[in-house]
Amino acid sequence: MIRVLAIGDINGEDGREYVYNSLGRIRSRYDIDFCVANGENTAEPNGITRDIAGTLTRCGVDVITMGNHTYDNKESAGVLEDFENVIRPLNFPPEAEGNGCTVCDIGKARIAVISLSGRVNMTPVDCPFHAVERLLPKTDADIVIVDMHAEATSEKLAMGHFLDGRVSCVFGTHTHVQTADERILPGGTGFICDLGMTGVENSVLGVKKEIIVSHFYNPVKRVRFEKAQGEVWFCGCIFEIDEKSGKTVLVERLRFNRLQ
Ligand SMILES: [Fe+2]
Ligand SMILES: [Fe+2]
Repeated sequence: MIRVLAIGDINGEDGREYVYNSLGRIRSRYDIDFCVANGENTAEPNGITRDIAGTLTRCGVDVITMGNHTYDNKESAGVLEDFENVIRPLNFPPEAEGNGCTVCDIGKARIAVISLSGRVNMTPVDCPFHAVERLLPKTDADIVIVDMHAEATSEKLAMGHFLDGRVSCVFGTHTHVQTADERILPGGTGFICDLGMTGVENSVLGVKKEIIVSHFYNPVKRVRFEKAQGEVWFCGCIFEIDEKSGKTVLVERLRFNRLQ
């Protein structure tokens, strides 16, 4: 069995410091073999830097997925070109820097990670369903993990069912709010609509709450989003996967502020 930990969007300095300081203990506490984290909000204002990608990798994140905020930092494009383990959605335009899939050999299994972007209330990119369908026949890994970075629960659930029995697990990212619908779909694919955020809870999705409240109160006033500071909550999900069949046998949702 391979125990995969998927970490929801790591947000800002406080979120990434929490992961830097705790991931080693979290990996051993939950007996994790492989870790994927969404890193689209790790840098300021968003996106990722070389320093962050390198530090997350050293601290135990095997693959970093991105999303609609991929290129918000000027270093992001270079990171995607230099770090094989940092991927952006597969269904981005072909001109976009980086890859949408990466394969890691951890000895016991070859693991493919695929990043996809939804299209409902998101940047209008290519169809994620057709993009992943074209890629799957070329993927010969024992385990296939899919991050469906999307706003709509319907689009994420549809992707879960579309890939059920063809990939090991599908998890959603992007909304920063964890859903309590973790399950194994009928064909053996582990699923959760959204992993949630690893960042400051006393905020609105990781941004200072006063800024977002004023933005909704007076939507025509221009505001600059700043990341919140404070107590971090860790959100993610564990998928225990049989490397022989490639199917998920157990799903465990995680949400805590202090590791027990
Ligand atoms: Fe995000
Ligand atoms: Fe996002």
